Amino acid sequence: LTTVREIYRDRECFLGKEVQVGGWVRSVRDSKSFGFLVLHDGSFFETLQIVYEDKIDNFAEISRLNVGASVLVRGTLVLTPQAKQPFEIQAEEIRVEGASAPDYPLQKKRHSLEYLRTISHLRPRTNTFQAVFRVRSLTAYAIHRFFQERGFVYVHTPLITGSDCEGAGEMFQVTTLDLNDPPRTGDGAVDYSQDFFRKMTNLTVSGQLNGETFAQAFRKIYTFGPTFRAENSNTTRHAAEFWMIEPEVAFADLEDNMELAEAMLKYVIRYVLEEAPEEMNFFHTLIDRGLLERLNHVVNSEFGRVTYTEAVRLLEEHNDEFEYKVAWGCDLQTEHERCLTEKIFRRPVFVTDYPKEIKAFYMKQNPDGKTVAAMDCLVPGIGEIIGGSQREENYEKLLKRMEELGLEEKDYEFYLDLRKYGTTRHAGFGLGFERCIMYLTGMGNIRDVIPFPRTVNNCEL
Ligand code: 4AD
Ligand code: MG
Repeated sequence: LTTVREIYRDRECFLGKEVQVGGWVRSVRDSKSFGFLVLHDGSFFETLQIVYEDKIDNFAEISRLNVGASVLVRGTLVLTPQAKQPFEIQAEEIRVEGASAPDYPLQKKRHSLEYLRTISHLRPRTNTFQAVFRVRSLTAYAIHRFFQERGFVYVHTPLITGSDCEGAGEMFQVTTLDLNDPPRTGDGAVDYSQDFFRKMTNLTVSGQLNGETFAQAFRKIYTFGPTFRAENSNTTRHAAEFWMIEPEVAFADLEDNMELAEAMLKYVIRYVLEEAPEEMNFFHTLIDRGLLERLNHVVNSEFGRVTYTEAVRLLEEHNDEFEYKVAWGCDLQTEHERCLTEKIFRRPVFVTDYPKEIKAFYMKQNPDGKTVAAMDCLVPGIGEIIGGSQREENYEKLLKRMEELGLEEKDYEFYLDLRKYGTTRHAGFGLGFERCIMYLTGMGNIRDVIPFPRTVNNCEL
């Protein structure tokens, strides 16, 4: 089969030639002796118009087709300079593969994104989601290329684990016990020693801890896999199941970490602009005016850098605009992050050296005793897209911090071992894949960049 994308990109070469295409009907119109059938074939969000005449023997069958039917078409490509679409196919033969019922939900009109979310099994057939999910696929590939070209080893970290990397307690429990009537210990607590793994386990919130073990063996590694968070936040940027990319590099510090993150984001932006120019233009025109200028500016300029302390000072001048007032020690809210990137810096910014109280146990403690060598990358329109840090490589300091936070030493023995056997300075970060796709496409809701989103109150399909 020839694809619609090939025809769009290389129309001269198909001109006057016979082609075969296969796709799904977007609309059918017919008059007495001829008709128009518009289809999309999954190679491109643009559609292809087919003209057919009553000389084909199933003229009536084609004219009666409902939207959504699948067809195979053989015909000749002709240019139509006067028409809305630049070319069309004059059909010699149209074969119906599968008819479509008249109640097909995607009729020929604009459907809202909210409505399309209720039919996530059919929305990939629309222009917008054709573009979104193609860019999502290309971005995943670009990320692998970026790391593989630089000699990073791809590690598959486990999805079921006994640890809570971020220490936020936002985990989905994994159990085979009947929680209506679980076995209990003497003091009445659920007896997890009788559970499948003989202990309490959960879906991973991050692959980092396992990733670090491989970084201490391969020096440069990355993970790219699903992560799960039972965050009870119903926002446009939080999903319960999302994908994260987590590089980890031995002999690297916070500065190296930021350089890597900036290079990765620029590489990915360039890649999609080059490999999916039509899709990116589609987003620019229909979803987010200004997207292309913004992304082109980003690849050609340096990201901003600011310490948390300095960021708070800058933000305090905007306190009258905020619902939550900023003060040193507070976690930055989305409104603050957006103010920093959209009003103060007007580009992506790394915020570094956060107070240790609002960051995870594994971050390297700064000499001031108050802050840690953390870095978050914030971008306009979204806020945080990357969270990372240099890691505490000192055994005693790490153990002391874990004790302060009440972490069970036995759950993290393997992690402490890394500080016992040839510890190194090291750093890494996590890029939220969906937030990255939102940034690249201008789509405003995380539910619209995940094929089958899982968010609070929603686990359909
Ligand atoms: O900042 P976070 O929690 O960092 C970590 O998990 C570290 N272990 C990463 C590391 O250093 N290896 O999460 C990293 C990123 C965030 O910046 C955000 O982009 C994304 O993951 N993220 C989410 N994306 C969608 N839905 C959620 N609920 C998310 N929570 C975090
Ligand atoms: Mg974070």
